[in-house]
Amino acid sequence: MKRLGILLSGRGSNFEAIADQVAAGRLDATIAVVISNRPEARGLDLARERGLIAVPLSAKGLDREAYDRLLVEELHKHAVDLVCLAGFMRLLSANFVRAFPQRILNIHPSLLPSFPGLDAQQQALEHGVKITGCTVHLVDEYLDAGPIILQAAVPVEDDDTVESLSARILAQEHRIYSEAIRIMLSGSFRIDGRRVKLR
Ligand code: GAR
Repeated sequence: MKRLGILLSGRGSNFEAIADQVAAGRLDATIAVVISNRPEARGLDLARERGLIAVPLSAKGLDREAYDRLLVEELHKHAVDLVCLAGFMRLLSANFVRAFPQRILNIHPSLLPSFPGLDAQQQALEHGVKITGCTVHLVDEYLDAGPIILQAAVPVEDDDTVESLSARILAQEHRIYSEAIRIMLSGSFRIDGRRVKLR
C-alpha cells in the first residue's frame, strides 16, 4: 500500500477530505504521517483525533535548506511514497524537490497560472475574472508552478465575497485532490514537458 505524507500549515480541511477517502477505502493508500510547520495548526489536532502520526516541525531559527533537510528526514523515516501539500504555506527548496522526484503534489485555489501565491481567491475577485477554480499540480522549486494534474472551474457570482467564493472553490479542492492522488498512485499518466497526460 502506498504511503502518503501530508504537509499542512493550518485548518487542514484538504487533509480531512483525503483522510475520509482513505478511511472509506476509496483511496488505496495509507496516511503515514502529517507534518506541520505550525505546531498550533488545527490540522495536527485533526490528525491526532484520527489516530494518525502528527508531527509539529517548527522552522524557527532554521534556514530553508536546514528545515527542508529535517522535513525530508521525517518523511523518509515514515517511508513516504507521495508527499501531499495541503495548505502548506512554505516554498520548498530544490533539494527537497529532488528528494521526491515527481512525487510531490500541491493544491492551489485558482486556475494556475493565474493568481499564484497568497490570497488567490481575493486576487481573482480583484481582477474581476468570471471563472476561477482550483489546481492540483506537481511541485517544483518555483511557486505554484509545476505540471498540472487536474483543475476544476468555479464561476464567480456578482455578489461573491472572498468567503463565499473560497467556500465554493474549497468544495472542488476536496473533490479533485483525492482524484489527483488516485491518478498519481495508479501511475496511469505520463509527463510530456509541462503536460500531464492521463491514459
Ligand atoms: C486551501 O484553499 C488551499 O488551496 C490553499 O490553502 C487552503 C488550505 O486550506 N493553499 C494555498 O493557497 C497554497 N498556495 P485547508 O488547510 O483547509 O486545506
